[in-house]
Amino acid sequence: MTRELRLGIAGLGTVGTGVVKIIRSKAALLSARTGTEIRITAVCARDKSKDRGVNLTGYAWEDDPVTLARRDDVDVFVELMGGADGPAKVATEAALKAGKDVVTANKAMLAMHGQNLAEQAESGGRLIRFEAAVAGGIPVIKALTEGLAGNEITRVIGVMNGSCNYILTRMESAGLTYEEVFAEADGLGYLEADPQLDVGGIDAAHKLAILSSIAFGTQVDFSGIELEGIERVSIEDIRHAADMGFKIKLLGVAQITGRGLEQRMMPCLVPDTSALGQLDGGTNMVVLEGDEVGQIVLRGAGAGMGPTASAVLSDICDIARDVRLPTFGQPANTLKKTSPARSVLPAPYYLRMALMDKPGALAKIATLLGNAGVSIDRMRQYGHSDQTAPVLIVTHKTTRTALDEALAAMDGTDVLASVPVALRIESV
Ligand SMILES: NC(=O)c1ccc[n+]([C@@H]2O[C@H](COP(=O)([O-])OP(=O)(O)OC[C@H]3O[C@@H](n4cnc5c(N)ncnc54)[C@H](OP(=O)(O)O)[C@@H]3O)[C@@H](O)[C@H]2O)c1
Repeated sequence: MTRELRLGIAGLGTVGTGVVKIIRSKAALLSARTGTEIRITAVCARDKSKDRGVNLTGYAWEDDPVTLARRDDVDVFVELMGGADGPAKVATEAALKAGKDVVTANKAMLAMHGQNLAEQAESGGRLIRFEAAVAGGIPVIKALTEGLAGNEITRVIGVMNGSCNYILTRMESAGLTYEEVFAEADGLGYLEADPQLDVGGIDAAHKLAILSSIAFGTQVDFSGIELEGIERVSIEDIRHAADMGFKIKLLGVAQITGRGLEQRMMPCLVPDTSALGQLDGGTNMVVLEGDEVGQIVLRGAGAGMGPTASAVLSDICDIARDVRLPTFGQPANTLKKTSPARSVLPAPYYLRMALMDKPGALAKIATLLGNAGVSIDRMRQYGHSDQTAPVLIVTHKTTRTALDEALAAMDGTDVLASVPVALRIESV
């Protein structure tokens, strides 16, 4: 007799309806691959009367996700409502308590409560799976937990928010300002209801926090991420960076250093010839570096109905096949609590400054950089029409601390017309 796996799906928006569509249209394929009949028994959303463009007949309806999570005819609670707290968390906890496995796409909930939820799940012998929570359709969780299990992971890098990458690449290709492209992206529905989650780097940082935990065997630490969004990236910087052979990306980087776990999500320059530099539009890319395997580059759709539902199905199929792994790749009670480390590893930096157009200004800046131990690799001065002279500097490798010391010293002089822009150049 064929086994069956009974799903209760809470959330019938973009991802939830995508999951229902795949399960309805690919029942035979899923059954052949898993030896299990994957069946939806009950669903839940806020508005029962909404036309969702998908056939829901044959499924019981619940108004309350907690009631759905506790139903006797549900083996796996599929949480696709979203939100770090509120109904998603309450219903996930109720499902675990009722002895159900959980599949979710909710990066916010995992970034904020991942450790507690993992401990709760594992103490009861349950699973929480979340392939769709990071980089949409790209199977990066599987790659890290399974494909690279024999490696010490040395670094995780990624462009993990398609909306930000769309904005930055569109600014460059169309020569538009940040404000103009933001309005355009908003109009096209590319941004979250709270756009700060996208452009403030928060959504991408949630994903980085989850990947760091799996990569380095550490407890999820969202608050330890150095975070800066793309709101201050100007079209001037994009143009100047391009002139010098770079692209600006909202880049997530995580690595273990002698001082702890370094995690940052901020605009960085990458060589325009690199795979990350050539990533255009809303696509995501995650680069994983392992001591044995070297560098792996994963690229694909980071959001959208099909790609995200595809990732949810990967988790559901694993449960159907009885693949049972700890939440973050190793038991939650063995994950180390690390202290966050500010970027200590040296890197070259891009500096843009507007100098007052007076004799000795440039020499003063060079001296202050030198005093802080920052040496200049390349410098460009641009033509100007007013009282200020735009200057670009690419430094040799230096620490952020040394650079901040130089910038603080410049602040006390009369040669700067505005606050300098300093962006890290990441070697990728
Ligand atoms: N969209 C993507 O491309 C994408 C990619 C990766 C990960 N994710 C993650 O996937 C999750 C779902 O995203 P989505 O884009 O599908 O969201 P969405 O389109 O806004 O859908 C959310 C669904 O949850 C339901 N819901 C919200 N609060 C509820 C409550 N209190 N009780 C019952 N149902 C409730 C809504 O019901 P109504 O329809 O009745 O309002 C809606 O059906 C989020 O965690 C998101 O971060 C999304």
